[in-house]
Amino acid sequence: MKNSDSNIKKAIKYLNNDECVAIPTETVYGLAANAYSKKAVSRIFKLKKRPNNNPLIVHYYDLNELKKDCKINNIFISLYNKFCPGPISFVLKLKKTSKISKKATNNSNLIAVRFPSHNLARKLLKKIDYPLAAPSANISSSISPVSKQDVYDEFGNKIKFILDGGSSKVGLESTIINLIGKPNILRLGGIDSKSIYKTINSFKNKNKRKINVKMPGNSKLHYSPGIPVRLNVKKNKKKEAFILIKKRKKINKNYFYLSKTNNLKEAAKNLYKTLRKIKKKNYKQIAVERIPNINIGEAINDRLLRASKK
Ligand code: TXA
Ligand code: MG
Repeated sequence: MKNSDSNIKKAIKYLNNDECVAIPTETVYGLAANAYSKKAVSRIFKLKKRPNNNPLIVHYYDLNELKKDCKINNIFISLYNKFCPGPISFVLKLKKTSKISKKATNNSNLIAVRFPSHNLARKLLKKIDYPLAAPSANISSSISPVSKQDVYDEFGNKIKFILDGGSSKVGLESTIINLIGKPNILRLGGIDSKSIYKTINSFKNKNKRKINVKMPGNSKLHYSPGIPVRLNVKKNKKKEAFILIKKRKKINKNYFYLSKTNNLKEAAKNLYKTLRKIKKKNYKQIAVERIPNINIGEAINDRLLRASKK
């Protein structure tokens, strides 16, 4: 991307001053700040209007950086080798010596971490000597942003700087896996659960006990477009926006296609963009065609189900 080096420098200047900066990742844009600084992390909560008890994902450049703050185990290493950098987050234990602000983890000794693959995010992380706490760059409970414009639509001039990295390739948030006790998926996302369990199951896992880790961000209100959403619809009502995965012969201005070729990855990438577009066009209701519940379709259906809850 043009001017990316000077823009990264600009972003770093703000981050070094404990300011928040929006950064591109392959999943969605993040609202980033120095995870070691209480002042910086507090600004994220304030800007997002995020409840204090909802901890943040902390972003690292690589394993070496992570080891400064977190305890790791063999299952983590195999998942890291297979999927990172990429759209997966891990819940791990913090080291006693970790410098992560307690504000980021809601005073817990557990933390969610991730290694984004977007090249600008990586360039940025490589140049700083602290990890970045970064939740999705939207006001709490609304739809995650997948472009610079989406971030701007959420916050206007309240954010000092948005690092433009084009539109997010995956378009849905990372999969979150809890590695405390018996591994379990807390949030479906960019990497499908089948591939993850395939890697995990090749392990002789001593941890048979599932330890319940709370995930405050999994509330029903999440990912809400702010208007009613009906799922598994065969035929839309007259004034409803109709989200489709399969192309129809009939042309209708109410139809919004997630994919040209019935491709689930493409559909995931277009989901949030489409929901925003429909809202901007002032539709009062959304209907959605049934989406196959396989591969990343699982994560699409998870978000749609949440969006449909009142
Ligand atoms: O793809 C992503 O993960 C994006 C990009 C920006 O990296 N980030 C993201 O962050 O989606 P956020 O804050 O919107 O969602 C993080 C979720 C929240 O639901 C939160 O409750 C959960 O992760 N979480 C954070 N720390 C946790 C922890 N220690 N244990 C369990 N859940 C945690
Ligand atoms: Mg979010």
